[in-house]
Amino acid sequence: MTIKNEILDRVDSGITGYNDLLKGGYFKKTVNVVSGESGTGKTVFGSQFLYHGVRNNEKSLCIMTSEPAESLKKEMYSSFKWDFWDMEEAGKVTFVDIADPELRLQKTIDMAPMELIMSFKKLLVRKIEEVKPDRVFIDAIEAMLLAIDSPYKLKTLVDDLFGVLRGHDITSIVTVGTTFNVESVVEYGADSVTRLGRVVSGNNLQRSIYVAKLRGSGTLNEIRVMNISDNGISILDQSPYTSTV
Ligand SMILES: Nc1ncnc2c1ncn2[C@@H]1O[C@H](COP(=O)(O)OP(=O)(O)O)[C@@H](O)[C@H]1O
Ligand SMILES: [Mg+2]
Repeated sequence: MTIKNEILDRVDSGITGYNDLLKGGYFKKTVNVVSGESGTGKTVFGSQFLYHGVRNNEKSLCIMTSEPAESLKKEMYSSFKWDFWDMEEAGKVTFVDIADPELRLQKTIDMAPMELIMSFKKLLVRKIEEVKPDRVFIDAIEAMLLAIDSPYKLKTLVDDLFGVLRGHDITSIVTVGTTFNVESVVEYGADSVTRLGRVVSGNNLQRSIYVAKLRGSGTLNEIRVMNISDNGISILDQSPYTSTV
C-alpha cells in the first residue's frame, strides 16, 4: 500500500502556478527536463526549484556543466537576493563545478567525449551518495553531450545518466539548451518536459511556458505566460493564447 501511495506523491516545484500546469507537481524520483533557447530562464527555473527545497529543509545538489557555480550564486543573489552562499555554508546545498580543476574533468579537446561522460557519471554517483540530496539540478546538460556524434550513443548515455538519478530517492531538474540540437534526445529520456520560450506580442516579447510531456499524468494543455520578477519565476493562471471560439 505504501509503495502505491509513494507512486502518487508529488513534489512542490516552488514556482507559483507551475504545479497547476503539471496537475500537482513533479512525481517523486523522476527526471524532469526544462528546455529552451538561451536566456529563456532555465537556470533561474532550476535554481528556484532548489531554493524552494532548501527553504523547506530539504537538501540540494547543484551540478554546473558550463557556467562556474560562483556565477550562478552571484546572478541569483543580484537578481532575487537568493543567498546560495549562506545555504552552502549551512550544508543545505552543495555545488559541483565541472570546470573545477580539482575534479580533472575539464572539457578539453584532448579528452574523448565518452571518457568525459563516464567520469561525469561516476562523479554524479559519488556526489549523490555523499550529499544524499532530496533535489538535484543539473544545468545545461548539452555541454556534456555536444561532442557525441552518434544518436545511438547519445541516447544510451542520456538513459544511463537519468538511470543514476532515478535510482536514488531524489527529484531532479535537468536543463538543456537548444543551441547544439541535442535537446530532443534529452527530452525523449525524461519523465517530464517543460519548454520555455518567447512569444512576440505586439512590440513586446513575452516569456512563455508549456508542459510537453508528463509520464503518468495528464497536464494542462495550455501555453502560459511566464514572468520573471524580483521574486523569481511565476506562471500566470490565465492563458492569453487560448482560443475562445
Ligand atoms: N529580477 C529580475 N526581474 C526580471 N527578470 C530578471 C530578473 N533577474 C533576471 N532576470 C532575467 O532572467 C533571465 C535569466 O535567464 P537564465 O535563467 O539565465 O536563462 P537560460 O539559463 O535559459 O539561458 C534573463 O533574461 C534576465 O534578464
Ligand atoms: Mg543558463
